Amino acid sequence: MDVQRLGIVGSGQMGGGIAEVAAKAGYEVVLRSRTAEAAEATLAGIDKSLGKQVAKGRLEDAEREAIVARITPTAELSDLFDCDLVIESVVEDLTVKKVLFAELDAVCKPSAIVATNTSTLSVIELAVQTKRPERVCGIHFFNPAPLMSLVEVVRPLTATDETIAAAKAFAQRCGKDAVDVKDRAGFIVNALLFPYLNNAVRMLDHGTASMEDIDTAMRGGCNFPLGPFQLLDLVGLDTSVAILDALYVEFKDPNYTPVPSLRRMVEAGLLGRKSGRGFYDYKR
Ligand SMILES: NC(=O)c1ccc[n+]([C@@H]2O[C@H](COP(=O)([O-])OP(=O)(O)OC[C@H]3O[C@@H](n4cnc5c(N)ncnc54)[C@H](O)[C@@H]3O)[C@@H](O)[C@H]2O)c1
Repeated sequence: MDVQRLGIVGSGQMGGGIAEVAAKAGYEVVLRSRTAEAAEATLAGIDKSLGKQVAKGRLEDAEREAIVARITPTAELSDLFDCDLVIESVVEDLTVKKVLFAELDAVCKPSAIVATNTSTLSVIELAVQTKRPERVCGIHFFNPAPLMSLVEVVRPLTATDETIAAAKAFAQRCGKDAVDVKDRAGFIVNALLFPYLNNAVRMLDHGTASMEDIDTAMRGGCNFPLGPFQLLDLVGLDTSVAILDALYVEFKDPNYTPVPSLRRMVEAGLLGRKSGRGFYDYKR
């Protein structure tokens, strides 16, 4: 199956990043948000991000214009009707995603693949909301999507080989390395990464070291580009708690239970970079 036209549902940090990557790779992109203002604001953000690449001499201005012109912002789900592939990238909440998958099934053409960018949730539970479970899979990009080279292609029990092959071909045309993974909470990366991030918060709570020193230690000692608190702020603390909850529900491993202080920060609206403050303050 040849994908020409891509739909993205959700215009948060991941939806916007995937739109940028796909439009840069030459796909026509329909970017759907719940309001026209949010979809247009995300497109303006993409234009700004591309403008920085032009300023650094990495992109021609004409290319920037062409990439932006390939993205159509909309608030209408029905505008996704002629997309060959639709990637859902809304809040990490199974109930919200289930409702959305049933709605997408009703508006997308029968041959379309409907995929999720979920970080951890069960893809089969989304597939069975549709009448096309054979054409549902996970296409999990990493944050920030324009920079990170990996895409996990997640195979629920119902997906056909053609669906997985089309998802991988799409990821590869976006310039990403695609890996195959079964439909298990957290897939490869987050199943391994999140006990570490959670334990970093636990270590901070125990007073073993300061947040800055834990970050410095993991950058310098493990050659990680970001320390755990910088990474949690980048992922978003709300998304991080949702990921840990989903991992705990599936595996019942205590290492996956979100450390209480992490949940309290979410309740306080300290979500990380996207809200201006998390472990670090980004407003200053
Ligand atoms: N943040 C990361 O590092 C990361 C990486 C890979 C995948 N993901 C996944 O991508 C998805 C989106 O995450 P994000 O980081 O872009 O989050 P975000 O908070 O930046 O964006 C969430 C989007 O969902 C929309 N939304 C919120 N509630 C909604 C509802 N009830 N109905 C429809 N839309 C709703 C918001 O308006 C927003 O556009 C999640 O499934 C997340 O697990 C996140």
